[in-house]
Amino acid sequence: MSDLNERIEAFYRFLWPFLAADKARYAYLDEPPGGRPASEFLGEIPARRGVGPGSRLVDVGSGKGKQLVELSRRLGCHVIGLDPLDENLELAAERLRKESLQDRVTLLKGSIGKMPLEDASVDFVWCLDMFNHVEDIDGALKECARVLKPGGSMMNCSAVGSDLLEPREAQRVTYRIGINPDTLSPERMAAAYETAGLHVIECGTTTDEGSPFLEEFDEGMAHHALRFGKMLRARSRVTARLGQDAFELLSAYEQWNIFLLIGKLTYCVWVLERVRP
Ligand SMILES: C[S@@+](CC[C@H](N)C(=O)[O-])C[C@H]1O[C@@H](n2cnc3c(N)ncnc32)[C@H](O)[C@@H]1O
Repeated sequence: MSDLNERIEAFYRFLWPFLAADKARYAYLDEPPGGRPASEFLGEIPARRGVGPGSRLVDVGSGKGKQLVELSRRLGCHVIGLDPLDENLELAAERLRKESLQDRVTLLKGSIGKMPLEDASVDFVWCLDMFNHVEDIDGALKECARVLKPGGSMMNCSAVGSDLLEPREAQRVTYRIGINPDTLSPERMAAAYETAGLHVIECGTTTDEGSPFLEEFDEGMAHHALRFGKMLRARSRVTARLGQDAFELLSAYEQWNIFLLIGKLTYCVWVLERVRP
């Protein structure tokens, strides 16, 4: 009990003067923590690994094709966009037509577990924000190593859990949005890279101080917390309009983003090299 009293006393001894202080005194707490846009530091990776005109890069899980355009323009190499969903491939095709990049970018339907690409046929495998959907981690990485030329490189940027993330929270937040919770373990990912013959060249999170991949803080992420709070308070009204299923899906999506905002989840960037046989 006395221990508790000491902690209560210490807490208010700090809190009252802190709250009463002139705002300017603690203005540093609201300063942006630094960093750069992710598109900037991620986009630099392939060139650093020697990708340029004449190279072949595959964007696995290319989605609506935003990166296909940026990578093709920045690197001048041939880009392949691979995605399992027809809707995504159609949206990407439309984007490429608008940007007049149809000749420099090829779209393929497929999954990371079985890519419609020859052995040792690409110089760079690009995986941005897709690996958390992968069920068979070892199989997918083995496939990435298979399509890479010896000495070729890969970039994977996917979410990992921090020590603030509780196992039950991880299960709850991942299930509805189709995420494999095993991909949130940096140790599991490190072991799988090793097994696949992909050597880690660079590694860092997008949130840790001093990380080469520190991303600028996006205050807009706070919107997810505000929306989720409002959804919970008006649960029956929102469910009636949205439907139970969509409510649960959106709840998981908002919580995923809140966890990213408060550091229960972060993105990790791995730059890998296919070990030469
Ligand atoms: C969050 S989106 C990211 C899209 C894009 N990479 C970007 O960063 O804008 C995830 C993408 O991964 C794709 N995806 C899901 N499972 C996949 C798999 N097994 N193999 C390849 N792509 C997959 C989805 O269809 C979706 O386009």
